[in-house]
Amino acid sequence: MRAATAPVREIALVDTPEILSSPVGRIIEEHHNDRNDLIAMLLDIQDAMGFLPRFAMEHVATSLEIPITEVYGIATFFKYFRLKPPGEHQCTVCTGTACHVRGAARVLREFERHLGIRSGEVTDDREYGLETVNCVGACALGPIVLLDGDYQGQVTASKVPTLLRRLKRSAEKKPVAARSEAAA
Ligand code: FES
Repeated sequence: MRAATAPVREIALVDTPEILSSPVGRIIEEHHNDRNDLIAMLLDIQDAMGFLPRFAMEHVATSLEIPITEVYGIATFFKYFRLKPPGEHQCTVCTGTACHVRGAARVLREFERHLGIRSGEVTDDREYGLETVNCVGACALGPIVLLDGDYQGQVTASKVPTLLRRLKRSAEKKPVAARSEAAA
């Protein structure tokens, strides 16, 4: 008796304008379409685009011939990955153990109160985003907050308004061209 041959699945790689104008295809190629590189691939896409757009995850799944749920599962499991575009200015509160015991939860609540958003959200004008991380390796100086990537140590809830004012002032000082480039 002849063994039944499994049907060959047709993979349709559709080069939509958003894929063609994004670095996603190049990044997948750089990782040689290697499924074992899935996490590294997603990290590179997020570094290049600021977050993981749905079309990018779909393109990765199609290129690697894996279910979209596998890609989505990784993207939602690791806190580092963002599924939505970040704010123009990103406030990141470390809530790892060392920062937590020194009051990181109060610091986070104060950011939420001042910005009017919860962790993982961005303000309506997309100016500010708020997120948490588990540890950024500076535990001795906790609680740590990163403002647009700049480390601030020993942050207390009472320092939050000053930090936000400083962030706003430094954003206003940026030349207009640089601001519109960042927003593009
Ligand atoms: S726990 Fe916050 S820097 Fe390590």
